[in-house]
Amino acid sequence: HDLSRANTLGLPCVAEAFAAPHRTPALQALLLQATQQDSPVTVLGGGSNLILPERLSGLVLQPALGDWWLEETPNQVLVHAGAGVNWHTLVMALAADGLWGIENLALIPGHCGAAPIQNIGAYGVELCDVLEAVHLIHMDDAREQVLTPEECAFGYRDSIFKHELAGRVVITRLVLRLSRTPHPRLEYGDLASRVGDAPTALQVAEAVCRVRREKLPDPALLGNAGSFFKNPLVSRETADRLLTAYPELPHFTQPDGRIKLAAGWLIERCGLKGWRQGHFGVHDRQALVLVHFGGGSAAELLDFAAAVAGQVAERFGVELEREPRLAG
Ligand code: EPU
Repeated sequence: HDLSRANTLGLPCVAEAFAAPHRTPALQALLLQATQQDSPVTVLGGGSNLILPERLSGLVLQPALGDWWLEETPNQVLVHAGAGVNWHTLVMALAADGLWGIENLALIPGHCGAAPIQNIGAYGVELCDVLEAVHLIHMDDAREQVLTPEECAFGYRDSIFKHELAGRVVITRLVLRLSRTPHPRLEYGDLASRVGDAPTALQVAEAVCRVRREKLPDPALLGNAGSFFKNPLVSRETADRLLTAYPELPHFTQPDGRIKLAAGWLIERCGLKGWRQGHFGVHDRQALVLVHFGGGSAAELLDFAAAVAGQVAERFGVELEREPRLAG
């Protein structure tokens, strides 16, 4: 099964077997069968935060649980969304319905099932701010479990699904807690200047879409996986040393006292914005995004990324960590 079009980086990949179950019992049956046959299973969402190798042995499973519904009470609205629901489609539908909570997360590519893995975040909001529960199935014995947000151990671009539960569960459904009470969050960047006073949730979502379209490449036109590196968290001492040399360095103090630096700024200051080598390049409008011009492989991409990170480490003494996950 050809997965070249199933990953937004557009990397060539052939899977031994592929299934996209629409219901939980079918998904469970496939998992049990794979366990019996001792066959590896790779879970695929929208393929927008993933680096695929040229061959994947075993089964590639793409949950297609595509329904969602509202559970409305006087004070809050719970949204139940299947893992296969397109995230951006859900955001726009809920914002248009006057529901507040995820409008700042518009235009993030991918499926709902993948959203908790990296705790998607943008423009001052993270998924964990509105998450109520995550439904999942264990791969080894197909048992179902529901995790609370605390159990998910969310952090910046991080969760239990990247650690203890990595490669061991399939997320089947999210429960989000939204509200009909207006609650615009416009502190990030120039978002406030892009909407009027008392904007609707839909107007905020549309403003976020415009900001993203200005900077981020459309994966349908140019292969990419969004930010390729995390913004590094450094100690106060490291930040002070860098700020002495570069007073204009963008930096954000975190609740735990560490300082988050803008990786895009560090890459740009190395002169790498728009740099191209072979089939890969640094995006010319947002240096944190690596782009694939076509014809390249995962191995080449990782070499290119290592060259970028190497220059940042040499110039600033800061290590960049990769954000998209490696499959297989
Ligand atoms: N910057 C530069 N040059 C660049 C890019 C950024 O100088 O080429 C500077 C900007 O001027 C700004 C700062 O870096 O001062 C932050 O830039 P931006 O607002 O564009 O956000 P980011 O830190 O580069 C993060 C997320 C994005 C998210 C935006 C908005 C990560 C790894 N990335 O990027 O998420 O959309 O903030 O909240 O945290 C993604 O994860 O795929 C993603 C796109």
